[in-house]
Amino acid sequence: MYLMALTETVWHAIPSAIRERAWKFLAAHNVGPMPAVPPSATPSPTPYLTPWPEHLDSIVDAPTEMSSEERLFLYAIIRGIRPQRVLEIGTSQGGSTVIIANALQDNQMGEVAGIDPLPRIAIPEESFHGRFHLVTGTSPEVIEQARDSVAGLFDFVLLDGIHIYRQTARDISGALPYTCPNAYLLFHDAFHFGVSRAIDDLLAHDPSIHDCGYVCSTPRPVGDLLTHGGFRLLRKGSAAVDIEPLVASTWADLGKEPPHELDLVNHDIWYCDAIEPCDRCARTQVTNAASPTTGEEARR
Ligand SMILES: C[S@@+](CC[C@H](N)C(=O)[O-])C[C@H]1O[C@@H](n2cnc3c(N)ncnc32)[C@H](O)[C@@H]1O
Repeated sequence: MYLMALTETVWHAIPSAIRERAWKFLAAHNVGPMPAVPPSATPSPTPYLTPWPEHLDSIVDAPTEMSSEERLFLYAIIRGIRPQRVLEIGTSQGGSTVIIANALQDNQMGEVAGIDPLPRIAIPEESFHGRFHLVTGTSPEVIEQARDSVAGLFDFVLLDGIHIYRQTARDISGALPYTCPNAYLLFHDAFHFGVSRAIDDLLAHDPSIHDCGYVCSTPRPVGDLLTHGGFRLLRKGSAAVDIEPLVASTWADLGKEPPHELDLVNHDIWYCDAIEPCDRCARTQVTNAASPTTGEEARR
């Protein structure tokens, strides 16, 4: 009896993905009495996972030459940065655009303006969730029109138009005046010699632009040369990131002010509980001992 209870406890402690495979393995090999509850009936709680993104699978069928890691990265960076206005230079069949639009949809904010002189979009309109504005024309000439379509400056730019030095340099100098002070620039096919040369020129001449490197780093062969593929990320703004504007709205949603206590640099709720309280927690413990209510308030 005790052994069965122990087996059940261990069984339920196994992460559900592993438990499910183990259950199938045991069933397939006819090992005898099976754990009482089949895996599908015992979903494990996922307390650390916010709701699974509804539109992540849009990356699978998107008609783009981007590799799987580039698709994932594009989706993830839009989720992570949460841009309000995205500019895409080179929309083609709308493959990268639909990934961006779906990430924006999962963010519940933002729009994308896509520029292309010869767009070939066969994707159903609803797949863009009303977040896409197509501007038919060439960069840099129609970038202002793209800005107007989203009514503001861009905080994220995907450059994926013609991959030669001259045009990349024109796309960069044409787009920059329409970007926010802390905008990100993401270059696809950044292993192209002309694209990387244009980026080097920009970095050499504009100290407000910072190189975040090749964030997708597998070159793709085109013809007999490895000249395509890869994402290179640049960031506009001060050399060190100011986190205050990034966290302000989340603190505000909680109805709290971001704290500015210097001793928070050594505070970590798990470390302070398990290893040693930081100065702040030590103070709180003293307060707690003196006055349980005030101490609990201070801790929050
Ligand atoms: C590599 S494809 C874009 C692929 C797309 N971003 C994707 O991954 O689904 C390049 C596109 O740039 C377009 N293009 C060419 N010259 C351009 C320009 N000056 N401005 C904007 N797009 C341009 C081409 O028509 C072509 O559709």
